[in-house]
Formats: sequence, structure tokens, C-alpha cells
Amino acid sequence: LNYRVPRTRKEIFETLIKGLQRLEYRGYDSAGVAIDGNNNEDKERFIKLVKKRGKVKALEEELHKQDDLDAKADFETHFGIAHTRWATHGVPSAINSHPQRSDKRNEFVVIHNGIITNYKDLRKFLESKGYEFESETDTETIPKLIKYMYDNRESEDTSFSALVERVIQQLEGAFALVFKSIHYPGEAVATRRGSPLLIGVRSKYKLSTEQIPVLYRTCNIENVKNICNSRMKRLDSSTCLHAVGDKAVEFFFASDASAIIEHTNRVIFLEDDDIAAVTDGKLSIHRLERSASDDPSRAIQTLQMELQQIMKGNFSAFMQKEIFEQPESVVNTMRGRVNFESSTVLLGGLKDHLKEIRRCRRLIIIGCGTSYHAAVATRQVLEELTELPVMVELASDFLDRNTPVFRDDVCFFISQSGETADTLMALRYCKERRALTVGITNTVGSSISRETDCGVHINAGPEIGVASTKAYTSQFVSLVMFGLMMSEDRISLQKRRQEIISGLKSLPEMIKEVLSLDEKIHDLALELYKQRSLLVMGRGYNYATCLEGALKIKEITYMHSEGILAGELKHGPLALIDKQMPVIMVIMKDPCFTKCQNALQQVTARQGRPIILCSKEDTESSKFAYKTIELPHTVDCLQGVLSVIPLQLLSFHLAVLRGYDVDFPRNLAKSVTVE
Ligand code: G6P
Repeated sequence: LNYRVPRTRKEIFETLIKGLQRLEYRGYDSAGVAIDGNNNEDKERFIKLVKKRGKVKALEEELHKQDDLDAKADFETHFGIAHTRWATHGVPSAINSHPQRSDKRNEFVVIHNGIITNYKDLRKFLESKGYEFESETDTETIPKLIKYMYDNRESEDTSFSALVERVIQQLEGAFALVFKSIHYPGEAVATRRGSPLLIGVRSKYKLSTEQIPVLYRTCNIENVKNICNSRMKRLDSSTCLHAVGDKAVEFFFASDASAIIEHTNRVIFLEDDDIAAVTDGKLSIHRLERSASDDPSRAIQTLQMELQQIMKGNFSAFMQKEIFEQPESVVNTMRGRVNFESSTVLLGGLKDHLKEIRRCRRLIIIGCGTSYHAAVATRQVLEELTELPVMVELASDFLDRNTPVFRDDVCFFISQSGETADTLMALRYCKERRALTVGITNTVGSSISRETDCGVHINAGPEIGVASTKAYTSQFVSLVMFGLMMSEDRISLQKRRQEIISGLKSLPEMIKEVLSLDEKIHDLALELYKQRSLLVMGRGYNYATCLEGALKIKEITYMHSEGILAGELKHGPLALIDKQMPVIMVIMKDPCFTKCQNALQQVTARQGRPIILCSKEDTESSKFAYKTIELPHTVDCLQGVLSVIPLQLLSFHLAVLRGYDVDFPRNLAKSVTVE
């Protein structure tokens, strides 16, 4: 939204499209945009809506066909909205994509991230009032509902934000919403509950404040009429943000900072149920009701993220770039935390809670997808170093089971994005039961990092590829660091700690060594890419590698792939083994080595042709291998950081050879903010 910054329509489109492209990893089956149009004769505004199925690129091409592209958007303020969709309700199509609208005149248009769970009831109600729906989406109820509120307003003076306030009182589920209306030209209203939303602020001039006080308008059934009829009082500088001297200021609303970082690094994170409105170029934030725990203001924060950090560099895909970043990203995770001289580890975000954690009954580690695998990978070393029982849980299943949680439990929430709905729900569930909650995320300001009692930022840098790679190894290292911090004063564990800390020190060099196997792995991919299935088998410290490797393969190559616990081989999976079935075995020099040899014998006895990931020093396994990939040897509990990398590379090459878009696998999204 530009306030007193004249732009051509083309510039406005381009800003929106660029922002969408940066957000494409959140979903990408269709995209749409709404901007102001004006009719030169009577200067009356209308809303121009363009939507297209497919990637953002398709929308961009469509926009270039518009004949009025170069027209000056000669309004003092201009507010455009755009959205890229990942379908939850309704198939991917132009009609189901956002912005959704109230009616054919586009009186109100809305973009939405999240899910409205009571949309069926709302739709029934609105249909009974004569509103006709055109899409299958849950979102469409929102513009219709606001139009209903508008059509039934008691006074001409009702403000845009008051209408939004009434709307969200009716909504159940999760949402980040941005509204635009022809009845409120140049005004913007945005709100959130459960889904992330931030506001970027850009101005060449001094801003009136760094803290925006939150306004409250206590709204109950009795006085709702009054409130909704009274236009917000004229905003003064103590209740809103504007550029001093009434000079140009631009506001950017977005789901995450990558969409806006090229314009500004000054952002305000909205809280659940905040309603942010820009009227006359001034931003104000208000809420329905005040609660004791509320922060009375929202600060403008400065983000350190740089745009080039989120660009592809010399790689053909973000995923590839992120795989090759791992020597640096694990260093960033350890930076300032592991002291290799004194062999101590200090995680600043946990230090005040360490006593409480040491006294706990058990640790529960919760996550989804790759983040869950990081928990599986480190469970054993955490049990060893903390001497506590450790449960690892998939967030969805943990909730399905109504798992008992106690006040003296410590619950960890692992999430790259910090926004995964299942993990967030599990967090709220544990908070209600008064357990201590710890977040391990990669996203500063994310919901999980804000709602947990304490936590660790893994500092892996932005991860764009949907298939998570560097976040996994950094989560892994973070959890190991936590174990080391917990065991600092255990005399019996000193030798072991020392060994692990030395392992951490040499990890970046060893990762580089593994990455140098890329060509060899590419050759292996050439042999395998036409296969339909690929099994990955191992046990102990490397079982998580099998799960994670198989997940990578299925996510981006669409081949069937299964991570198999070698201990379970004879209880079923052995039936799959024959001459044809490709099977990768992870066999490392660790306490499971002999047992893995047994599994290897069982596979070769059935004419299986195993591809073995093994240690450089291992001459035994390679004798039976169809192919080997030899890895540097490190301490057993860190070996998984190294053994996963060949599988990350393999899945990447397989996907490229099969002709798929590595960064945007079909049907998947980077951040799943719906349950
Ligand atoms: C999605 C992504 C996965 C990711 C999982 C958990 O399914 O496609 O790559 O592992 O969510 O995401 P989180 O952000 O919570 O780590």
C-alpha cells in the first residue's frame, strides 16, 4: 500500500508479483491479484481482479496481456493485494484462487491464508440471505460475510475495520486475512488468528513512533451496535504510525518476511486477533478486548535477513543450494554456543530454564515430517546424555491420542518454519497442561518461537526448497547441543561429551568431504532414476537417516520409497527383496555394525543387490555390495548428519533426471499451516 507515492499500475503489479514469487514455496497451484482500476471519465474506482491457475509465472503472463498496464494509477494512495494458493478446499482453478470476492462488482475482495472450519454454516446462512457463491472455497464466505455486514450496517459512518471486527467474530479456524473494498478506497485492513502475518514499513522520512500502541474497543453483544456504527476516532500520533511531516510511507502486508525484504527490513509482527488498518496513510492496530497478559504495543523490529540469502546463487535449485550450504549452516548453528576450548555448550535461550529441565519427569519431542526425523535421529544420544526418558512424537498422532502430559514434562517443538499447524496445536495442548515448552525453529518471530516458554533458533538461514535439508542437519546439531548442555556436570559422561564435542568440531570439514561425492551420486542416480521403488534400510543411530532419505525421495521424485528399520527386516520387508528391488543399506562402524551385517547377509542371500553407505574404513561390507558410497567416519551419534547427505543429493539428482521441479513438488507446501 503506497501512501502518496505515485506508481504506475505496472509497478504495482510488479511489486505484488515479486512478493508472490518469494512466497511461492508456501503454495503454488494458482495465484491472483486485485488492484484499483479507475475509469477516466468519472474517476470512479473499481477493483480489477486477475486470477490464474498454475504458478505465479502464469499470472504474470496474464497480467502482461492487460492493455491498461502502463496507465498511471493516479490515486494518492494505492492498495493492491495478491495471493498464491495451495488448495485445501476446492480444486486448483482460477475461480477457487484468491482474491475471493463478495459479488460481481468486486465490492469487497479478500485474500486468506489458513482454513475456516465453520464455513459450511456460514455459507448456508449467507445463501439463505440470497448471496450466490461461485467457488468451492471456505474463503469465499469471508467477502460475502463482510458485504452482508456492510449491507446491514446501521450507519453510513461504519468504518472498514469495524466491519472486519464483526466478521472475525463469526469465524472459526485459522486465518491471516487482508481486505480491500471499493467502499473504502485506498484503505487496507488485515487481521490474523493462527496464521502468520506481518507488516513491513518503508519510509524515507522519520517515523512517528517505533511502538504502536494497541487500541481496544470492548465489544460485547449490547454495545456492538454502537461500536460498529462509530467510525474510528481520528487517529492521533499516539495511537498510530505515520511518517513525520505527513510524508510518504509505504506498508507491505505479508505472510512472511521473504516477500517484502527487498523493500524494507522494518517489520511489525501481528498477534492473533489484532486488526491492523491503514487509513489516510496511518497505520493503527486494535483489538476487540483487552486481556491482562496482552502486550500494550507492537514494536517495529529490524530484520537481519538479506535478500541475496534467499536467492538461488549458482545452483539450479534452492534445494541443491541448501544441501551445499550445510558446512556453513551447521557452523552457524553452533556459533557462539559451543566452546571447543573449554568443551562447554551454552544455549542462551535455554539457560534460565536449565534447572527446571534437569528436574523434569521426561522429555517429549514433537514435530512433523523432516523435523520429526531430527527428533528420531537424536533420541538415543539425548537419552544417554540427559538420563531422562525421551518420547518422540508426530504432532498429529500425539494430538489424536490425547497423550497424557504433566506439569513436570518438558516438551520440545521442532519446526523449521515455526508455523506448522499440527506442531502449533500440540504446543498449545502442552501449554494448557502447564508443561514447560521449548521451541526449536529456524524462523525468528514465528508462532512457535513466540508461543513457547523458551527455545533455540537453529540459525540455518532461510530454507526455500520444500524438501528440507539444511534445517534437518541444524536441528540435529541443536538437539545434540542441548544434550551436551544438560550433561555438563555429569562426571561419568565427561569422556563421551569430549568425544562428541570433537566430533562437532570436525563436522563442517567432513560434510564438505561428503559433498565431494556428488558426482558419484549423480552416476548412481543415472542407474536408478527409472525405477519405481527404492528401499532405504538401517538401524540404531542411522535409522532416522533411512526415514529421512526415503521421505526426500518420495517428496521430490514421486518414486515409492520406504525407510526400513533393519531390525524389522525379517518381520515383513524381506518379502520385497529380489534381484530387481533397489535397496540402499546404511551400515556404519557403530554398535549396530554386526547386526547390520546380518541384515546384509539376509539381503544378499535373496539375490538382493544392495547399494551400501558405509565408512571409509569398512572393507567387510563392500565385499557384498553392488555399489558403495564411502563416508568419513565420525562419532556414532553424529554419523547421521553425514549419512543423510548422500540421500539428499541422490533424491535431488533423481528428481532432476525424472524431469520434476525439485523446489516445488506437486501437492506439497513448505509450510503447512492447516491441520
Ligand atoms: C511440510 C514440509 C516438510 C516439513 C514439514 C514440517 O510437510 O513439506 O518438508 O518437514 O512440513 O515443517 P516444519 O516447518 O514444522 O519443520
